[in-house]
Amino acid sequence: MQIVTVKPTPPDTQGKRGYNIYIGTGLLEQAGLLLKENGLHDKAVIITDQRVYSIHGSLLLQALERDQFQVTVLRIEPGENQKSLETAGRLYEALTDANAERSTPIIALGGGVIGDLAGFVAATYMRGVPLVQIPTTVLAQADSSLGGKTAVNHKNIKNMIGTFYPPSLTIADINTLKTLSERELNAGLAEVIKYGIILDKRFFEYLELNIGNIQKQDNNVLETIIVKAASYKADIVAQDPYDRGIRNILNFGHTIGHAVETASHLSIWHGEAVAIGMVAEARIAQEVGLLSGNAIERIINLLKSAGLPTALPTFSGGKLLDIMRHDKKVADGKIRFILPTEIGAVKMTDEVPVNIFEKVAGNKR
Ligand SMILES: NC(=O)c1ccc[n+]([C@@H]2O[C@H](COP(=O)([O-])OP(=O)(O)OC[C@H]3O[C@@H](n4cnc5c(N)ncnc54)[C@H](O)[C@@H]3O)[C@@H](O)[C@H]2O)c1
Ligand SMILES: [Zn+2]
Repeated sequence: MQIVTVKPTPPDTQGKRGYNIYIGTGLLEQAGLLLKENGLHDKAVIITDQRVYSIHGSLLLQALERDQFQVTVLRIEPGENQKSLETAGRLYEALTDANAERSTPIIALGGGVIGDLAGFVAATYMRGVPLVQIPTTVLAQADSSLGGKTAVNHKNIKNMIGTFYPPSLTIADINTLKTLSERELNAGLAEVIKYGIILDKRFFEYLELNIGNIQKQDNNVLETIIVKAASYKADIVAQDPYDRGIRNILNFGHTIGHAVETASHLSIWHGEAVAIGMVAEARIAQEVGLLSGNAIERIINLLKSAGLPTALPTFSGGKLLDIMRHDKKVADGKIRFILPTEIGAVKMTDEVPVNIFEKVAGNKR
């Protein structure tokens, strides 16, 4: 087991405490112990979805009961549409029915949907109860469970209502990743590869060398990449807990990626869209003279070996631009991007002319 510590945020407003992220294999079995080590005991409520619970729930439940926790399990249907105020409302009622108190931790067992929803409920029920994140997808372990952002969607706007609410601890059990489909595993890898491109050339090289072992689900390699991803994110979040500055670099690949995700009506998954977005944004970096063709080749090759798409789909061009305008990424004929300058470094610019984007997108409508 490895421990990544998220340092306390600056003493300005909320969320002053730091917390630990425990990463390793077989950690669900040790969950009771880890909760106790972090001052949580007696009662706990697991919020999870039916699919995750049917695969991993009983192991966690047994582990908690072995350590004398009295556990209530609240299960919802899987899916993004559960990230809603309606579902949060039902969970508040269920928490009341279960006599959950201010000291009763909520354990979020699942992917990013559960993490965001259960995190939001933990942040708001009785003005906040302890939160334990137990992420079970690559995306959740490498990204969504780590930054303290929680939210529900509202009126078709993603993450419209939410809070910054750090967990008391996070437990990332590598074993849970073994039951993901190949497509789910690969989609999560896009965010892992992103850290290599924006922050660390050596990590990018490690991924190039080990992509085969990742797909064979080698425990050591999976643990290494999750530890790396968690460390990068923890470091950036500690510098910018409320997303007002440096945290922006995590949006590499997301300006075009979000637009692709939206334009595809979510048939292209988030990680896949980010892979497509990273390649398109790298091409833009090349067009404006920031990045070499060789670096782009390496990015494309790594994404392809991770089973990810790299080409912009045919809807592209004007439609994507409309969506980016709607996302407020376009102003005065210029688009705001995070662009790589080499593998391992990025810079932010709001100076990319729309016609460069159109050239890269092939001007398709
Ligand atoms: N808070 C943040 O900072 C942040 C960052 C990025 C993304 N997100 C959010 O994360 C969500 C996407 O998360 P996701 O990609 O993890 O999707 P998800 O939570 O919808 O999970 C995907 C599917 O995998 C299943 N699943 C989860 N773990 C499994 C396992 N171990 N074995 C088998 N099946 C499993 C789930 O039941 C679900 O059907 C989005 O709502 C997005 O907005 C949040
Ligand atoms: Zn993302």
